[in-house]
Amino acid sequence: MRVSVIGCGYLGAVHAAAMAELGHDVVGIDVDSEKIAMLENGQPPFFEPDLPEILSRAHESGRLTFSTDITLVADCDVHFIGVGTPQLPHSDAADMQYVEAAFEGLSQHMRPDAVIVGKSTVPVGTAQELANKLQAIHPNASLIWNPEFLREGFAVKDTLEPDRVVYGLSAKELESGDRARSLQVLDDVYKQILATGTPRLVTDYATAELVKVSANAFLATKISFINAMAEIAEATGADVTQLADAIGLDERIGRRFLNAGVGFGGGCLPKDIRALIARAEELGVGRSVTFLREVDDINSRRRERVVELATEVLGGSLNGKRVAVLGLTFKPNSDDVRDSPALDVAVRLKGLGADVVATDPQGIPNAEQRHPQINYELSTEKALQSADLVLLVTEWDEYKQLDPTFVGSLVREKNLIDGRNALVPVQWSLAEWNYFGLGR
Ligand SMILES: NC(=O)c1ccc[n+]([C@@H]2O[C@H](COP(=O)([O-])OP(=O)(O)OC[C@H]3O[C@@H](n4cnc5c(N)ncnc54)[C@H](O)[C@@H]3O)[C@@H](O)[C@H]2O)c1
Repeated sequence: MRVSVIGCGYLGAVHAAAMAELGHDVVGIDVDSEKIAMLENGQPPFFEPDLPEILSRAHESGRLTFSTDITLVADCDVHFIGVGTPQLPHSDAADMQYVEAAFEGLSQHMRPDAVIVGKSTVPVGTAQELANKLQAIHPNASLIWNPEFLREGFAVKDTLEPDRVVYGLSAKELESGDRARSLQVLDDVYKQILATGTPRLVTDYATAELVKVSANAFLATKISFINAMAEIAEATGADVTQLADAIGLDERIGRRFLNAGVGFGGGCLPKDIRALIARAEELGVGRSVTFLREVDDINSRRRERVVELATEVLGGSLNGKRVAVLGLTFKPNSDDVRDSPALDVAVRLKGLGADVVATDPQGIPNAEQRHPQINYELSTEKALQSADLVLLVTEWDEYKQLDPTFVGSLVREKNLIDGRNALVPVQWSLAEWNYFGLGR
């Protein structure tokens, strides 16, 4: 099929390459000419495992092109909208200007009977609004909402082998059941994915939109729950990691997403829970999600707690103390520093007078763009040199594998805060480190 993908960021670039991998002819459109130039050369504009390989295969096959020219959507059968929906600057709500602009551009140039597939994470009600507009412009076109669940770091695998696909249909199309046109077209696009038995759930628009945000709200809640337990563990001397192991063995609870630490971040979870709160308030059901404010607050407190602990460990003042910050991205295997707890902590420490040297295998260019005041060092060894305190804030494998004795030979003082509870405390204590975990 001929497919366009509007918006070529973390979601869209991967989606475009993955659709070409499935054998479709794809054009990726973005307003960012630098990003498009890189993608046109087969270069990923961000770090994502396996993306370089599928991009170059797609490039060689001639099935994937990128452009800033929206008119190229004209001969496509299907259009995916994957533009950003960040938080508005002075509100919790999502900024919908990019979705609106993408839709406007698309509706002007698309074939009048094409299918639009919404992938961006949007406030509930958006799909219906867009469908109404589409109906007025192109009565023979259709809109289906197909939220994306990919995880950065596993984006290629999650796109090609999703654990489920959700199709949100208009009320009219829902009546046609399996004969609904947009459903059949999307089934064709995802034929190979569905052939492997991937569950496909067909819902109305509102449910599809809510599935995405409620999944993120649930995951955020799980993380903040264990971080709340970490606060209590800190006040009582209990060990939150053992607690998580013990409750996680209950199948109804599960161990995943129960790692206490510096909390969640990134371009999705924080803004998605805030947008859900804002939308619920608009709908007059704000009370249903008041607890998400607490989830957000607990999460912010973990960042403060790490800074507080660093100050305590360094004797009450950070002034002039050298702090090696290991990690800048919001999670390992990504270069994404959007709302990253690691970068936030580094910035706060710097603001309090610490001599911060921050390192990360992939995140330095993005971090440097946002916070040039910090001293960045690509080499972990150099970053650790003469540190008074080592702070692990993103659990990259290379940091988890650091040798306590070797690291001990580089630093000035053997103080370590494990902001992700990712290390084995006894190994560090045996090498005479002052090890501080969170909630343990
Ligand atoms: N990143 C993830 O892990 C992830 C996972 C699931 C869902 N999502 C959702 O997907 C959407 C995109 O997220 P992202 O992380 O890829 O964001 P991103 O900021 O990396 O990418 C968005 C892209 O859209 C482009 N864009 C903006 N306006 C445009 C327009 N009018 N026409 C064409 N391109 C335009 C931007 O230049 C940018 O490249 C968001 O709604 C997000 O919540 C993201």
